[in-house]
Amino acid sequence: NLPNKVKIVEVGPRDGLQNEKQSVSAAVKVALVDRLSRAGFLNIEAASFVSPKWVPQMATSVDVMAQIARRPGTIYSALTPNMQGFEAALASRADEVVIFGSASEAFSQKNINCSIAESIARFAPVAQAAKEHGLRLRASISCAFGCPYQGDVPLAAVADVVGRMRDLGCDEIDIADTIGVATARQTQAVMLRAASEFRIEAIAGHFHDTYGQALANIYASLEVGVSIFHSSVSGLGGCPYAKGATGNVATEDVLYLMQGLGIETGIDLDMVVDAGQFIARQLGRNGASRAGNALAAK
Ligand code: HMG
Ligand code: MG
Repeated sequence: NLPNKVKIVEVGPRDGLQNEKQSVSAAVKVALVDRLSRAGFLNIEAASFVSPKWVPQMATSVDVMAQIARRPGTIYSALTPNMQGFEAALASRADEVVIFGSASEAFSQKNINCSIAESIARFAPVAQAAKEHGLRLRASISCAFGCPYQGDVPLAAVADVVGRMRDLGCDEIDIADTIGVATARQTQAVMLRAASEFRIEAIAGHFHDTYGQALANIYASLEVGVSIFHSSVSGLGGCPYAKGATGNVATEDVLYLMQGLGIETGIDLDMVVDAGQFIARQLGRNGASRAGNALAAK
């Protein structure tokens, strides 16, 4: 009894590219986002309005949002850690803003320079402003399966942050394996615990593939009713505040899995493969999607 349809949120232009050391021009990012929207994604994380000193690669977010060819019905999202980020997202006509917290105190400090409780206080006005302006509000919870600084993260800590994000009025909550350490049974335990605080239809799985477990964790999530997943075209990504973390699970691999399971995504895999080869060429390296490379070689 797997779902017959899933929503895939393409996060490559943000989570993927934010971690690239070589700078990627706004024009290339725009070309990537436009290829992805043409491939059928209805959800693309395209921008991040954070301090350019902390994440230089996202400094071009205003230009990217100004230059993309917006497809009607496509939701272009932006990360907004505080009101300064929210104002920029609003001016850039983001459709959805993403507040991002953590289930780990240590990671919260390293990533956004404040405690979990302080972060929720910063998010509250962002959440309120999003509602006032009719923007969709999503929350991401990092280190829900393990933390590079504190190690284990208790289920109760995840449940607590999910509850706080729910109380802020979030439309969707992402449970993130920032450093890609989760395994399948653990994934189910965390997802079920999150689902005790928030409706499972609006919980997303955000998996990184550091330990090669992301597809197994997605399958395990499907089994307990999760039907929203994040992925990066060509497996782009990592996290500047999580040393050694590799990219998100590759979108092409996820689409190949869903195709095999007969689960509808509404996305054209061949066009995503092309987009993946395009960005890999721009970065001067091979794509990191196994399915993408195999299909491109055919
Ligand atoms: P802070 O230093 O505590 O904030 O940073 P502050 O309010 O004291 O401001 C300090 C400076 O930052 C000021 O500039 C502000 O103007 C500027 P200065 O006066 O020094 O020139 N500033 C901003 N600039 C642009 N946009 C803003 C903004 N806010 C303040 N919105 C802050 C706090 C959160 C801003 C900072 O820590 C930061 O930007 N951190 C970056 C966090 C980040 O982007 N991490 C990566 C994304 S999260 C992720 O990838 C995980 C995820 O994928 C899920 C998963 O896998 O786990 C989502
Ligand atoms: Mg991530």
